[in-house]
This record gives sequence, C-alpha cells and structure tokens, in this order.
Amino acid sequence: MSGNTDMKLIKNGVRLDGRKPEELREIKMELGVLKRPQGSAYVEWGKNKVIAAVYGPRELHPKFMQNPTKAVVRYTYNMAPFSVDDRKRPGPDRRSVEISKISSEALTAVVETEDYPNTVIDVFVEVLQADAGTRCAALTCASLALADAGVPMKDMVVACAAGKINDHIVLDLGKEEDNFGQADVPVAITPLSKDIVLLQMDGKLTRDEYSKALNLAVDGAMQVYEMMKKTLIGSLNRKE
Ligand code: CDP
Repeated sequence: MSGNTDMKLIKNGVRLDGRKPEELREIKMELGVLKRPQGSAYVEWGKNKVIAAVYGPRELHPKFMQNPTKAVVRYTYNMAPFSVDDRKRPGPDRRSVEISKISSEALTAVVETEDYPNTVIDVFVEVLQADAGTRCAALTCASLALADAGVPMKDMVVACAAGKINDHIVLDLGKEEDNFGQADVPVAITPLSKDIVLLQMDGKLTRDEYSKALNLAVDGAMQVYEMMKKTLIGSLNRKE
C-alpha cells in the first residue's frame, strides 16, 4: 500500500483487470478436497489459491492450554514459499502470526465452543498462490472447511475487502491495487447476524470513505456468502 497515486489503477470506471469499481474477482469454491482431515475446502479468488483443513474437536495438549468451559479454535495461516513473487521464507513470520490470531478470533465467534470443553479445533490454511486479499480468501475457505467437518456453528464467517485506489472506493483489491492503492479494509462478517468479526485498515481514509468502504466490503461479503451457500447445498446433495 504505497499510496502512489501516479499509477493509473482505474480509468473511466474500469480497473486494470477490467472490473467495475464494485465488482468482485471471480471466485470458485470446493468442499471435501482432502481425505485425511475431518473437513476441508479449496477456494480460488481471482489469482489467490487457498486450501483449508480442519481437525477436531480433539483433546488439547499440553493440558495447561485447555479451557475447561470451551473449545480453543486454533488457526494456522501459512504462505507456501512459491505463493508469492519473491520466495517466501518458510515458517511463521509476524504477518502470519497476526493473521492467524485475528482469524482464530473471528471463527471463535461462530463455533459452538461451549459444546466441547478442553478440546482444540485446528484450522490449517495454506496459501498456495497469493494475489492480495489472502486473509479474506483464507478465512472464507476456513469457514467452509469447518462446515464440511460438521463442526457446530451459530453462523458462517465470510470475508471481503474494499479499499481506495486513485481516490475511488473499490471492492476486493487485486495485487497492483493493493501495492499501489491508498487504502485496504478487510472485513469479515457473520452473514446471518451481521456482526463484524474482523476489521482492519491499511492506509488512510476519511470518515465518509471509510463508511463507504465498509458498506461495500459487507455487500461484497454477502455476495460471497451466496456462493458459499450454493457450494454447501451442492455438497450436501452429493452426500445424499
Ligand atoms: O493477502 P492480504 O491482502 O490479506 O495481506 P497483505 O499483507 O495486504 O498482502 C497483500 C499481498 O502482498 C499478498 O496477497 C501477496 O500477494 C503479497 N505478499 C507478498 O508478496 N509477500 C509476502 N511476504 C506477503 C504478502
């Protein structure tokens, strides 16, 4: 997010990849893509490719980490070394620890954790290819994998970002827009109760711009939720 406004990212209402300001990238979703975890999902979101696997609820070890009243939702976001232009050094870094923490909190808001005291529900997300917006794609994919695992949830979690490029508020920033735009606001919501369970901001926005970006991101998330519902219903029909 350099805020370098010299780069033309939008011209006559058309973005570099041909999208309109309020248009999402193309999204594909698939459930049950792995045989070993209890649940799994794969999401392509533009050029992002992410896969999520869910294990548990299972007893949490070491025991001092257990919560006697509820399950712990552990989230591990990892970028493959080949997922970005410059090889990503394998292993956790400050960014992945941050994304894992906030995503775990977002999912904890919907999982019926009280039903499973002393256990852990592990969610692993691997980013195979990154092209901006991976935390949103990853969290949406994780929510699908939890549903695929049959983990009881009050609601889903669906994420989408909006931001500012060349002084325009746009939905779902792509890589150049993220690199050279002015602001990026990733948002995750629970689509039924409409709670915000994740909200971040990189860059600067006025109050009005922030409000417009937030509304746009929530609208985008609701569109993604419609795709999630279709994917879940399709998977249920196949299982029957
Ligand atoms: O991916 P997301 O937008 O949630 O997070 P970000 O920190 O804003 O990163 C934006 C993009 O920068 C990522 O999606 C990657 O394409 C790229 N990136 C990278 O090339 N190398 C990294 N170590 C981290 C991010």
